[in-house]
Amino acid sequence: MDQSYRPRYHASVTSGWANDPNGTIFYRGKAHLFYQHYPHKPQWGTMHWGHFATTDFVRWERLPITLVPDQDYEILCGCCSGSAIEKDGKLYLLYTAAQPDLQRQCLAVSEDGIQFQKDPGNPIVTADMLHPEVSRTDFRDPRMFRKGDWYYLIAGARVLNEEQAAANPNGGYLERKIDPLSVYSPSLGNVSGMDPEKAGYGNLILLKSRDLYHWQYVGKLIYEQDEFDLAYFRLNGVYECPDYFTDNGEEVLISSPQNLPTMGRRYQNIHSSLYMLGKLNFSTGRFQIRAIEEIDSGFDFYAAQTLRMPDGRVIMIAWKEMWDRNYPTQSEGWAGTYTLPRELTVEEGRLIQKPVREIAAYRKNRASCDSLSVTNQSVSLDGVSGNVVELHVTLKPGAASKAGLKLFKGGEHETLIYYDRADGVLVFDRSRSGQPFRGQEKDTVRRYCDIGQAESVELSLFLDVCSLEVFIDGGRHTMTGNVYPEPETDTGIEFFCEGGTCQFRDIEKYDIVVDP
Ligand code: FRU
Repeated sequence: MDQSYRPRYHASVTSGWANDPNGTIFYRGKAHLFYQHYPHKPQWGTMHWGHFATTDFVRWERLPITLVPDQDYEILCGCCSGSAIEKDGKLYLLYTAAQPDLQRQCLAVSEDGIQFQKDPGNPIVTADMLHPEVSRTDFRDPRMFRKGDWYYLIAGARVLNEEQAAANPNGGYLERKIDPLSVYSPSLGNVSGMDPEKAGYGNLILLKSRDLYHWQYVGKLIYEQDEFDLAYFRLNGVYECPDYFTDNGEEVLISSPQNLPTMGRRYQNIHSSLYMLGKLNFSTGRFQIRAIEEIDSGFDFYAAQTLRMPDGRVIMIAWKEMWDRNYPTQSEGWAGTYTLPRELTVEEGRLIQKPVREIAAYRKNRASCDSLSVTNQSVSLDGVSGNVVELHVTLKPGAASKAGLKLFKGGEHETLIYYDRADGVLVFDRSRSGQPFRGQEKDTVRRYCDIGQAESVELSLFLDVCSLEVFIDGGRHTMTGNVYPEPETDTGIEFFCEGGTCQFRDIEKYDIVVDP
């Protein structure tokens, strides 16, 4: 089958479906990216774990399927998301065995990182072992890590408050009526028709273990804090796919909340990804939040996971798609790509994301221009074109009302990234990109990133056939989205300005060339 949308330097499946990154870890000389996978069709189905490995985050080796849902406890929904940890040289995976009304955690172990054995004692953690406040229906995506002599895990869950728990001694799951034969949608399927007063609100829970096999409940991470919008604490959905790491003494908690309402320009997708800075109390589980921010202001970014490299870098990879949308590559027999891995640091109280430095080894055909002035027009530059490229530019919008870039341009198609002076936002506009988008949000074609009244905006853009990632002001913000232009012909790049004159400085473009 023709696969003309296949990205050249982003991880993607060649056939079938892929969603969340799972078990990201550096193990035996390679970075491993396991992922949620349905091999038989390019749509979500009973989950398997697929497997990529890489030595440079650009070339992805495709390895055999890691977990196949072949156990009774995995019927219907399969081996859902989870994480990896190394212990005594072995690689352990902890994943959610999911059924439509029951989610439990299971272990698999490997001596070589390729072949895994499921533990005969699976499922090793069930909500019944924890506390009546934890729902058995929505208890998933365990993220393990080690601190001192203990292993910890953070999982997404619906949790009842004390009054609710007292009224529902068996947990929230009894309230849910699901037809197990209906098509299970992991996102909306978990949400529709649920009354959070009975089923609990989205939360994260902390468990600890000495040996990875026996886990005890510590408590819930998220408590109401007056400084933050109540919507974070009254989530009618699950805080999916948690991740946790420290950088420079800062603790970072990552998660993807379902159904978080839009707040101003933030959280414009139905399901979002956010980070919280704060402090985790390992005795109570409580996470004292100091700041909350959306990770990416674009369209297609979910379920991010991190891994730590031997050189100390924290690398984040997310699913570069979104639930409840159409996926145009399904007609090519595949669906599911991942972001360019990003190096994370915490600086001045916010998360900074930079494209993984290894990408620089694949740069070819440099073209540059020190300064370009544009007045009420759209211009191209010799040598600056392509749809598998890295492009850097510093935009000085001056008094112009709109100034920015037209990408993937050809015929009627163009994808816009521009600064809008009146609103103080960077806009990602894919309304004329190519194949149309459908989704459940009001607007599936425009996203906005608040940057305020800017004299200068520094942009690093990564284009890869059907994908655009924008790093703004040294990675203080990012915007990620897929677009579906004509892959052969929509390769133009133009610099444009409306309502005045603007300057483009330090323009630098490279082709990214990864030999097959
Ligand atoms: C998030 C998610 C997880 C679940 C997995 C199923 O995208 O819904 O919560 O484990 O996908 O594929």
